Order: sequence, then structure tokens, then C-alpha cells
Amino acid sequence: MAEIKRVGVLGCGLMGSGIAQVCAAAGYETIVREVSDEVVQKGIGGIGRQLGKQVEKGKLAAEDRDALLGRLRGTSNLEDLKDCDIVIEAIVENLDLKNEIWRTLDGLCPAHTIFASNTSSLTIADMAAATKRPERMVGLHFFNPVPVMKLVEVVKTIATDAAVFQTAFDFAKSLGKEPIVCKDNSGFVVNLLLVPYMMDAIRALSEGVASIEDIDKGMRLGTGYPMGPFVLSDFVGLDTLDKIGDIMFNEYKEKRYASPPLLKRMVSLGYYGRKSGKGFYDYSGDEPKPMPLV
Ligand code: CAA
Ligand code: NAD
Repeated sequence: MAEIKRVGVLGCGLMGSGIAQVCAAAGYETIVREVSDEVVQKGIGGIGRQLGKQVEKGKLAAEDRDALLGRLRGTSNLEDLKDCDIVIEAIVENLDLKNEIWRTLDGLCPAHTIFASNTSSLTIADMAAATKRPERMVGLHFFNPVPVMKLVEVVKTIATDAAVFQTAFDFAKSLGKEPIVCKDNSGFVVNLLLVPYMMDAIRALSEGVASIEDIDKGMRLGTGYPMGPFVLSDFVGLDTLDKIGDIMFNEYKEKRYASPPLLKRMVSLGYYGRKSGKGFYDYSGDEPKPMPLV
């Protein structure tokens, strides 16, 4: 694509690392920024390991892996993103933190740079309002695990320029993804429907409807979902899910979006799911074991 050559990614956690990987895989010069050099190197190390598995399986040539990694650079300095044509933000789900970064980048990047957020539940307009380029702000909402999931929700606000939206849509396609067009409502399409389902599962568990394993098994075998709601919640990250629940409840004032008390207590105790080793399941052994939560 003519307009986009250099991509900036903010955050190299679960989502940022996947987004950086798919951008570099599609041939873009990609620079990913984290809070420290140590954190960014850890994230890039994870990408290298993931690609190494693909090489071992014979699904990726070693030279293609090396070329991909050659297009990927880490930094802790926000100024290093000043020459990017698009910046995709995937830091923690917190509007103040996101807007602090957008304000700084707005002063650093040239006028043509497109700003895109991977937010799960915030509105894009609430970020666009922090910049002097609201017409160049879109949502690019990827799904976890990014290298595997085909969908990207491409989100336009009431202020997004039509040509900018088209560029973002074509960019998503150039990553090998299947984009859909979404309005700028909290949760877009997928999380509008998925988040209440995940919160309902936690409420059902708290009310003693069935065990963690049986609720998961029920949804897997009864509906064909690849993961039950608790395996999925642990996979998304319970800290992130809790923040999403707070934001969506605040927006819609509907109980089904609210983060249930059990989820809040788990987050207080550092049970963040797979990323911390404990969530609805304990991941310390060979096989995940349900936690004694109720
Ligand atoms: N990162 C990169 N690749 C991964 C991966 C990861 N974390 N996990 C699995 N893969 C790859 C594997 O390497 C494998 O690749 P190959 O076929 O090339 O060998 C492929 O995915 C399939 O993996 P497995 O056979 O090990 O596992 P699986 O068939 O059970 O699939 C899964 C794994 C794709 C994650 C599947 O379980 C699934 O689709 N789960 C549901 C995921 C989901 O719903 N995601 C959305 C979460 S909500 C969200 O993202 C939005 C939000 O805002 C919160
Ligand atoms: P994560 O906790 O795995 O990673 C967030 C990263 O942001 C961390 O590595 C952290 O160091 C970094 N960070 C925090 N403050 C920063 C700052 N000021 N500058 C740069 N980096 C900073 O979280 P995640 O799951 O990758 O989620 C990131 C974003 O993607 C959130 O907005 C989330 O809602 C969204 N999202 C998450 C999922 C999911 O399944 N987890 C799916 C789609 C979208």
C-alpha cells in the first residue's frame, strides 16, 4: 500500500506483540514501544519463540522468520515513532494513559500519520478528542491470538475522514485479515455480544449453577465454541476483562456488562489468568486445574 510504509505499535503485551508480528510479517517496517527496554525485549523475545515454533513445524522458512524479525524494532522512546505512517495503540485499557500518549504523539508525528486504537471497550471518539487530528483517528480492533484470528473491526467515529477510514480498512486487509466496518460504540460488534456472555458465566459460577469445568464443557460441546468462557477469560486476561466490564457498564448502565464481585476479588489478588499463572484455572502444573473459587 502506497500510503503506509512504517508502522508504530504502542505496547508489546499480549495484543501489541501479536499486532507487531503481523505487521512485520506483511512487510511493514515496524517499531514497537514499551515502558522500558526490558519489557519490549521480553515481548520481542516472545514473538521470536512463537515464530521459532512455526519454523520447527515447517510452516515458516527460517530466512522468512529472520527477514520478519529484521523489520521489527523495539524501543522505549516514544520519539522513535515520529516517522510512522500509522500508529496502532495496544496499551492497558485505561483512557487517561492512552490519551497521555496520543497527546504526546500528536505533537511528534507529521500531519498525515493515522492514529488507530486496539481498545476493547473505550470509544475512539474519546481518544480522538485528545488530539488535534480527530479526522485521522480510527479503531483497529484485533482478536487474540492476533496471528491466528482473522477478524479486525475497523471503526469510524462521526469525525473520521472517509479516505482515512478506507486506508485503515485496506491496511487491515494487507495484513491478511478480514475487516468489518463498525460504528464507534463501546464494545463495537464482538465485545458488545461477547462481554455480557463472559460476565454471565462468572455470575452463573458464583450462583452455583455448575462448576468451572462443566460450564466450560457445556459451552464447548453444546455450542461448538473452541474455548469455554472461563478458559477464554483467562486467555483474554482477567485484569483486562475487569477494566472492560467497568467501562462498558459505565457506558450502558446495564448490569450484564458489569464486572461481577468474584472477578473483582480475583483481580485484587493478582489472579490475571494465563499471564499470571492463576485465574479460573491454575496453570502451574502440566494440565490446567480449576481453582477452588466458590
Ligand atoms: N499465538 C500465536 N499462535 C497461536 C497461539 C498464540 N497464542 N495459540 C495457538 N496458536 C496457533 C498454533 O501455533 C497453531 O498454528 P498452526 O496451525 O500453524 O500450527 C494454531 O494456532 C492452532 O493452535 P492449536 O492447534 O494449538 O490450538 P487450537 O486449535 O485449540 O486453537 C485457538 C487455538 C486459535 C486459540 C482456539 O482455541 C480459539 O479460536 N479460541 C478462541 C479465541 C477467541 O475467542 N479469541 C477472541 C478473544 S476476545 C478478543 O480478542 C477481543 C477483546 O477485545 C477482549
Ligand atoms: P497486556 O497487559 O498484555 O499488555 C499491555 C501492555 O501495555 C503491557 O506490556 C504494558 O507494559 C504496556 N503499557 C502500559 N502502559 C504503557 C505506556 N504508557 N506505554 C507503552 N506501553 C504501556 O494487555 P493486552 O491484553 O495486550 O491489551 C492491550 C489493549 O488491547 C487493551 O486496550 C485491551 O483492551 C485490548 N485488547 C485486548 C484483547 C485481549 O484478548 N487481551 C483483545 C483485543 C483488544
